[in-house]
Amino acid sequence: THQPMRVAVIGTGYVGLGTAALLAHIGHDVVGIDIDPDKIAALQSGQVPIHEPGLDDLLASVAHRLTWTTAYDAVSAADVVFICVGTPPGPDGSPDLQYVASAAANLAPHLNGHMQVIVNKSTVPIGTGDYVQRLLEEHAPGYDHGRHQVVSNPEFLREGTALADSLYPDRIVLGGAEGAVAKMTALYAPLIEQTFTAPATAPRPDGYTRPAVVRTTLQSAEMIKYAANAFLALKISFANEIAGLCERVGADIEEVATGIGLDQRIGHRFLQAGLGWGGSCFGKDTQGLISAGQEHNYPMPILEAAIEVNYRQRRVIIDKLLRQLKTLKGKKVGILGMAFKPDTDDLRDAPAHDLIQRLTQLGARVTAHDPIAMPRAAREWAHLTYQEAAQVEDVFDRADAVIVATEWTAYRLLDWTAMSGRMRAPVIIDARNIIRTPLDAELEQVGRSTVKGQVLPS
Ligand code: UDX
Repeated sequence: THQPMRVAVIGTGYVGLGTAALLAHIGHDVVGIDIDPDKIAALQSGQVPIHEPGLDDLLASVAHRLTWTTAYDAVSAADVVFICVGTPPGPDGSPDLQYVASAAANLAPHLNGHMQVIVNKSTVPIGTGDYVQRLLEEHAPGYDHGRHQVVSNPEFLREGTALADSLYPDRIVLGGAEGAVAKMTALYAPLIEQTFTAPATAPRPDGYTRPAVVRTTLQSAEMIKYAANAFLALKISFANEIAGLCERVGADIEEVATGIGLDQRIGHRFLQAGLGWGGSCFGKDTQGLISAGQEHNYPMPILEAAIEVNYRQRRVIIDKLLRQLKTLKGKKVGILGMAFKPDTDDLRDAPAHDLIQRLTQLGARVTAHDPIAMPRAAREWAHLTYQEAAQVEDVFDRADAVIVATEWTAYRLLDWTAMSGRMRAPVIIDARNIIRTPLDAELEQVGRSTVKGQVLPS
């Protein structure tokens, strides 16, 4: 009973590809637009340029409702146009809007007489909706306030679980004028009512019913995105700050997190202490709010502290290693995990990057392994000095120390006794607290004291 719409998605990164796959899956006709001809050619031949579990299959299953092009003309037929381009941090840390601006300027001339909604899905500073609206007015000859309206519809998906996060969201936030928001509600109807067939790769979670729909002003929707990410970021930093004190007073952050997380007002999620956050969002969004505060002469001390604590964790891990080995000169140090988190090959703001850099500065020989991010690291981290580990054993062989930087399941499942047996005098810095088996090694974790040979609680 739902009316299929024609949708244009500008930008074929994580957010654009996820949005295109989702909208095609719930029955709409989607055209994906990107200025990069190589990306478009790859997508046309069925290759997906990013690693996201289940995305290849989902895109293939809806290929008949998806086309890819570098030409903006496709916008003229679209009922809804999504802007899903990158907003990387600029030199001062605030998001660089050049791609949003050029997407808006390029799409504007192709707007036509029918009702068309332009959706900001990129994470953009508060006020960008109005800015895009002004750009459209400037560049669209037939711009009409009644027919062409901008909506902010922020994305809350996590990399690695992008499909499930977009198919079964907690909420859908729609900020903008009434008519445009109504059109977006119609677009998302199969998602709101959960009438679509769940893909095999992303089954509907037990107990999930349907998302809440939050209708707001443009500015509130933009703020919701930033405030949500900033809150999650500071929750992690809070766990890390408490973890440091736990170590000093003999408490165990894993027990403490369980104990406080059971209070339903707190909740246990995003309280995992360790090496802190990385990725493309938390650093950028906390900084983005601070920059917004600065513009209005309004300090944001909580967010400043959350950032400080996050990056301090990277130094804390090196300090733990230095305490164990005294010097790193000539020592072989293994790094397990390069991606900023498991199940992705994304290396943006990955803690492993800073660890490798610091370790080499201190004279260590670094060997690093990642289940999937190594090829990307070979391209993007060419400025770092490290040896690639062809297999995970190479990280341990005759190593003086090994650091767990990313909590891949494969690492949780390692035979840690056998692995530490390959090391010189085993020193393991488990910066993600994944080791839960007794281990005859110098084992250091975050926020809990461990003693050589001790049987750790499971
Ligand atoms: C995040 C938000 O979760 C998502 O809603 C938003 O749309 C984009 O930013 P993402 O960056 O993909 O998603 O990853 P996420 O799973 O949230 O993890 C972020 C970082 O925090 C990772 O580096 C992870 O290792 C770290 N983390 C997470 C912790 O250190 N402890 C935790 O308890 C949770």
